[in-house]
Amino acid sequence: MKNHLNSKLDLLDKKQLEDKQILFYQSVDSTNLAARRLVENGKPEYSTVVAEKQLKGRGRLGRSWFSPRGSGLWFSMILRPLKVSPSNAGAITLVTAAALAEHLNKQQGLPVMIKWPNDLLLNGKKTGGILSEMKAKPELIEYLIIGIGLNINQERADFPCEINQLATSLYIEHDKRLDRTKLLLELIEDLKKAYHSFCEYGFNHFYPLWKKYNTTLGKTITVCRHNKNIEGVAIDLTQDGSLIIRDHKGCNHLINHGEIISGKTSTDSAFRPP
Ligand code: BTN
Repeated sequence: MKNHLNSKLDLLDKKQLEDKQILFYQSVDSTNLAARRLVENGKPEYSTVVAEKQLKGRGRLGRSWFSPRGSGLWFSMILRPLKVSPSNAGAITLVTAAALAEHLNKQQGLPVMIKWPNDLLLNGKKTGGILSEMKAKPELIEYLIIGIGLNINQERADFPCEINQLATSLYIEHDKRLDRTKLLLELIEDLKKAYHSFCEYGFNHFYPLWKKYNTTLGKTITVCRHNKNIEGVAIDLTQDGSLIIRDHKGCNHLINHGEIISGKTSTDSAFRPP
């Protein structure tokens, strides 16, 4: 396979990042793991780690995340949302998806949509994902790490065959190469603002935005929940981020956790099995 990435490397600007106190690694196991090590050593809230390349990029549900050098954004932010209870922490992932979709649509002109609950799709293919990991006591979040992976400048041939039909990049779909350093700095600012509002006003404040960018509603989908598949039409999204599916018998199912494993125009995630 021709390696387009090596011929068109546009590397992150270390100096610009470090000027903004962003911790930059050329290569790391996973930015989520690096952020965890840092927060355990006392790094404050909003500290952000970015890597040019991840050796063990991690996706949801124990999958791995393809994170080559010089093409995407792989970064993690440390949060300490003291006002948010651990049971509501999952909403921060939805807020993140909404804020990313809003930025990519409004600032970059890219029609990125959200596949429930928080996959970012462009033209029906996965271009981004979010992995949040938390350490909490029963009533208190000690810290939360939000890890974001965005496929930016890859070409089609850069993706390994296992995910070639499922994944995409902003460049593939829109033929526009983005300056990753600039985009990262803008996204971090938008994400910080979104977290402030979430901590202040709760998920209700973001629900309309998250719903607006959702691409799942109205589709016939299959969701895997507790090893059981439920098929039906996605009829609504609730104010707490759950999905309601109506099956062929007309029964409604409230899905608050799970994964869409098939859908008419949706795709599976841009992941590789570990
Ligand atoms: C998903 O499976 O959809 C979530 C993917 C999240 C990937 C990002 S890349 C930066 C951060 N570090 C990781 O190891 N994973 C997340």
